[in-house]
Amino acid sequence: MTSSLERPSPYLLGNYAPVEREIDARDLKVHGEIPRDLAGVFVRNGANPRFRQKGRHHWFDGDGMIHALHFEDGRASYRNRWVRTWAFGEEEKAGGSLWTGTTERPDFSNPRGPLKDTSNTDLVYHAGRLYSLWWLGGAAYVVQVPSLETCGTETWGGQMPTVSAHPKVDAVTGEMMLFDYKPYPPYLTYAVVAPSGEIVHKTTIDFDAPRPQHDMAITERFSILFDMSMRFDAELFARGHMRSRFYRDSPARIGLLPRRAPGSEIRWFEASPFYMYHTINAWEEGDRVVLIGCKIDAPLVGDPQNPPRQVPTVGFLRLEPNLYRWELDLATGAVKEERLDDTLTEFPRMDNRALGRRTRYSYNPRISLTEPTVLFDGLVKYDLEAGRSDTLVYPEGRFGGEVVFAPRTGAKGEDDGYLITFVCDEASGESEAWVMDARNVSGPPLARVSIPQRVPTGYHAWWIGGDDLAAQRAMPLPA
Ligand SMILES: [Fe+2]
Repeated sequence: MTSSLERPSPYLLGNYAPVEREIDARDLKVHGEIPRDLAGVFVRNGANPRFRQKGRHHWFDGDGMIHALHFEDGRASYRNRWVRTWAFGEEEKAGGSLWTGTTERPDFSNPRGPLKDTSNTDLVYHAGRLYSLWWLGGAAYVVQVPSLETCGTETWGGQMPTVSAHPKVDAVTGEMMLFDYKPYPPYLTYAVVAPSGEIVHKTTIDFDAPRPQHDMAITERFSILFDMSMRFDAELFARGHMRSRFYRDSPARIGLLPRRAPGSEIRWFEASPFYMYHTINAWEEGDRVVLIGCKIDAPLVGDPQNPPRQVPTVGFLRLEPNLYRWELDLATGAVKEERLDDTLTEFPRMDNRALGRRTRYSYNPRISLTEPTVLFDGLVKYDLEAGRSDTLVYPEGRFGGEVVFAPRTGAKGEDDGYLITFVCDEASGESEAWVMDARNVSGPPLARVSIPQRVPTGYHAWWIGGDDLAAQRAMPLPA
């Protein structure tokens, strides 16, 4: 009899299955036309296990692999490379897996450490470097573009040896705000990196217990951090177990910290209980702060108080996120909350040049409700000012991923540019990159670029425009 533990995870099947080859391909076949003013590199990270680990597999397990498309003069080339993490090297030497996944009990007897830093989650470009990052807080691996060579790790002089996914770059000031959370004190660390690449501010935020958080947000003056209602079960944690619990009767708290203030100055605003993976943006409007994100009211599988609706799951996580708007009143401390749409969307992106400033548009992949796993069957462009949306539905059996916004050369206006994402056929594995007009999301794509191998379903992406590409700092990293 086959036990559930031996059954292959759905997140290793279909287009979640890893690819084995690293390839380079030039002059890719294109249906339609790649705009001539699209110049730069689209990069996307994701889990692609080099070796099959023992025990349970979770979608968030597996070595980071970056897929890159280089656009120039109306042509595109493709390259994919694993992030050469320390753990990847150790397993290559051993010829097999040396760690279990994140849903197994951490093995503290493992001489290499209980958890494998896979660097599989996020990509962020700042101050001449592309960083590959891990959702549980890992080393910031520096990856050269377009070679995708892993050059080393950035610790900012040892001040941030690990960092969470989802730092935020203020394109106006050139600063990058980042955080790291841990299951032991200090539970939350926050830092500001100057445009020079140096850390200019670092502080910790006090909690009585760990506060898992996946993302943050910024405004011109504040960084926004969270004390959400899903955290480790306090009683079990005291006995050494890390099992998440949703405290449905306990308010969530949204914390505003002036950008370079000590953690003790964080001001907490109470909101309805929620968990959230990704924010979209935040900004200030007079004495109010607006936050937009993908809020989840019932994040845990098996909670008897969950609504009966069937939604995709990832391990014990239940993905039922809605676009939400919070308004924090700095004068009174009051919080106004509003659900903006009933459609389930996640992995939202926007025009990063305006992060922290008032923006109008958000580009959110739509979650398919006919699949048990997380697949995006469409793309919703939200117009937050007009309260409208425009939806692209992918062809039957094809699913897209996170999009990036690439501004047109000389762009005028927030949505004057292109959207890029991978679109893959779940049955055949045929993979394309779609280039879309951000002003006409539901129209036909401008270009469909054929990728000569399957691109597995992944996570976060980034657009490195021509200017950023030219501004990359010398590699390899100094010792
Ligand atoms: Fe994320």
